[in-house]
Amino acid sequence: MVATPIRISKNLQASAHQYLVDATSPNQSLLPLTAKVNDRDHLEIGGCDVVDLAKQFGTSLYIVDEQTLRAACQQYRDSFKKHYAGESLVIYASKAWNCLAICAIVASEGLGIDVVSGGELLTATQAGVPANKTYLHGNNKAVDELQMAIDCGVTVIVDNWEELRSLANLTKAAGKTTRIMLRLTPGIECHTHEYIKTGRIDSKFGFDRNQVDTVFDFVVANPSLDFVGLHAHIGSQIFELKPHEDLGGVMVNWLTKAKAKGLSITELNIGGGLGIRYTEQDDPPSIEDWTKVVCDSVMAACKAENIPLPKLISEPGRSLVGTSCITAYTVGGQKEIPEIRTYLSVDGGMSDNPRPITYESLYLAILANRMSEPLSETVTIAGKHCESGDVLIKDAKLPKAEFGDILVVMDTGAYNYSMSSNYNRIARPAAVLVNQGQAHLILERETLEDLLRHDRLPDYLKR
Ligand code: LLP
Repeated sequence: MVATPIRISKNLQASAHQYLVDATSPNQSLLPLTAKVNDRDHLEIGGCDVVDLAKQFGTSLYIVDEQTLRAACQQYRDSFKKHYAGESLVIYASKAWNCLAICAIVASEGLGIDVVSGGELLTATQAGVPANKTYLHGNNKAVDELQMAIDCGVTVIVDNWEELRSLANLTKAAGKTTRIMLRLTPGIECHTHEYIKTGRIDSKFGFDRNQVDTVFDFVVANPSLDFVGLHAHIGSQIFELKPHEDLGGVMVNWLTKAKAKGLSITELNIGGGLGIRYTEQDDPPSIEDWTKVVCDSVMAACKAENIPLPKLISEPGRSLVGTSCITAYTVGGQKEIPEIRTYLSVDGGMSDNPRPITYESLYLAILANRMSEPLSETVTIAGKHCESGDVLIKDAKLPKAEFGDILVVMDTGAYNYSMSSNYNRIARPAAVLVNQGQAHLILERETLEDLLRHDRLPDYLKR
């Protein structure tokens, strides 16, 4: 096992400095890899002062560190090259955060992209992701999404019978061949939140094991379907290595069965799922350790079954983009309830980060303008939505906060913007990309006009 040292900064243990963990694998770090405290005692990311960014772009604000995102891409890519004896491709599960700039960065690192809708596919295509590295997922793809995939020439990961039949008809009608993979439910349990387990038998995703034989027969009889491989994904935010180790053996066994049917399958996609560190207690394996386990298990199973190594595809989302981003808010009202708690409200909340209310996810926060002050207070960070459950962090340790301070929530790159909403008609925040002292807007802040863009008032209601 390749050990990745985690070194905690020894000075100022009781201040936000303690979160400047010196980890090489981005998913083991709490802050983006370029995080520093500058001589104004402010948090700096990508060479930019976070307090200045908040002033310039407003809050709430997503701040993405390009170097951290690129480092994660490179570590996945290079670890697969190092540990797998065959061909490999890492594809970014863009549901974690699908937008033009992030797709373009990931593609420029040589990674492919997994998309789950026509909207994600359009974004990836417009960001310049090559079709031969794009894979379309989804358990209920619409006919026009399938048609779009055929027209763009991307690979479709087929989830069920209805889709398989539609795709056979659409490809025949278009006189085209489409590359497909089959998604299987591998029957592997992992310890993560109930809503983000996908690989166990009781899952809406993929073909059930007892359907696979007849699916293989159907594919053999339909040559417009260019069947290239098998896919499985077992869940998200997983810290154990064993489920992924087991997955290699299960999937290679299915490859052997397909070969026995005369199918020449050349690709195996083992999904994503590696967790990231959101709190000091979280202890995920490094990207390289995870990759090595996956590669070793697939190589050992292929050796045991005596089949050639398939092209090995993995599709991480969270562990590529999660740590690269922080969200900056401005501190507003405070409410102290003696001997119970102090609420500290910020100018965002469940609409820009729905994970705490959805999965009870834990996060850490710091005050970007008080980096060296002692963490003397325990407060509950509340969002601005009209809902008691709109709490971003319970019992956060912070210095004494004042109205106007800039509060940063860490590790908000994955499933924050992509799951954001306009609840309470609050506009979505802007996002900036920072690198070497430069900040570039990658998502504009929504305006009040944007919020009304799709409203229509029937004439009889007009006054
Ligand atoms: N591949 C497939 C087919 C997936 O469904 C997913 C995630 C991934 C790859 C990427 O998994 P990752 O490496 O990011 O763990 N909204 C939830 C997470 C849902 C995950 C959905 N599928 C959350 O905020 O925790």
